[in-house]
Amino acid sequence: MGSLSNQDQAECREKAEYANVNWDELGFSLTKTDYMYVMTFNQDEGKFSQGTITRFGNIELCPSSGILNYGQGLFEGLKAYRKEDEGILLFRPEENALRMKMGADRMCMPSPTVEQFVDAVKKTVLANKRWVPPNGRGSLYIRPLLMGTGQNLGVKPASEYTFLVYASPVGSYNKGELNLMVEDKVHRATPGGTGGIKAVTNYSPVYKPLTQAKAKGFSDVLFLDALTGSNIEEGSACNIFILKGNVISTPAADGTILPGITRKSIMELASGFGYQVEERAIPIEEVFDAEEIFCTGTAMVVKSVASITYRGKRTEYKVGADTLAEELHATLTGIQTGVKEDKLGWTMAI
Ligand code: COI
Repeated sequence: MGSLSNQDQAECREKAEYANVNWDELGFSLTKTDYMYVMTFNQDEGKFSQGTITRFGNIELCPSSGILNYGQGLFEGLKAYRKEDEGILLFRPEENALRMKMGADRMCMPSPTVEQFVDAVKKTVLANKRWVPPNGRGSLYIRPLLMGTGQNLGVKPASEYTFLVYASPVGSYNKGELNLMVEDKVHRATPGGTGGIKAVTNYSPVYKPLTQAKAKGFSDVLFLDALTGSNIEEGSACNIFILKGNVISTPAADGTILPGITRKSIMELASGFGYQVEERAIPIEEVFDAEEIFCTGTAMVVKSVASITYRGKRTEYKVGADTLAEELHATLTGIQTGVKEDKLGWTMAI
């Protein structure tokens, strides 16, 4: 696929309308956009009714709503990218819809259909088109939420549900080096728990170890499994891969690991590159002699790990040019932004 010349790109850009944002300064924080999508579950009909696009803004919740009192909620994260010709691509939105359905089942919530989910995402992006960064200068992060919004004081599933989608332009999730500290006291997930879905309650419990690790100069924590305390699981918001020889391994998504869509895409790309990809238990000792380690996630994309510290022992890894992580990152973002041919049919033009 050919790329547009600088002059063609500049001409396309002139024709497109953009919000007044300093795209090169974007990190991963909220920039309020114009619109959001809201859809409520209709109890009588037993399904989500027609949603609407409304102005982005605060929402009203009953103080006794399920989301506020018992954390009955899920979120998703996906991105829209601007192509060189100003077109917009979504990356594997049906995968997020399916993951939300799976999570909703675990959390006793009704879920939008895949079609309703994708339609809501498309409408949100198109309504906020001017906030999709120019090609190569960030992406529009889309955050679908599914929440128990009906009142219920007792411990039981909510009586009403709301599906809401908002979006924000973002840049890099983590701008510096990725230096991980292995957390061996606090666990992110337990067998039979909710670590394998995107429950809103999976995230704030990591704040304490994460804050403590950051205070010591680390950028993230790496959690160990709760059952044995000997296998690596994932970071606070990303999956992990280790490379040794021709084998790339990642912890098996068997209930305590988030089945990341970037994780899945990277496994498919790496296997296409000729690597043997293994999903399995990875003892912490294996990180000491790994050739490369990298993290993946929608927000993080693919990022090399510079070091891992476990009980005071620091191991350093190759980062930057000539790493597999770099090659995978270039291939994935090339597909996501329409610069590389999408042979696997992952992108959706809107
Ligand atoms: C994502 O990558 O979409 C995540 O879930 C990370 C988010 C918690 C910031």
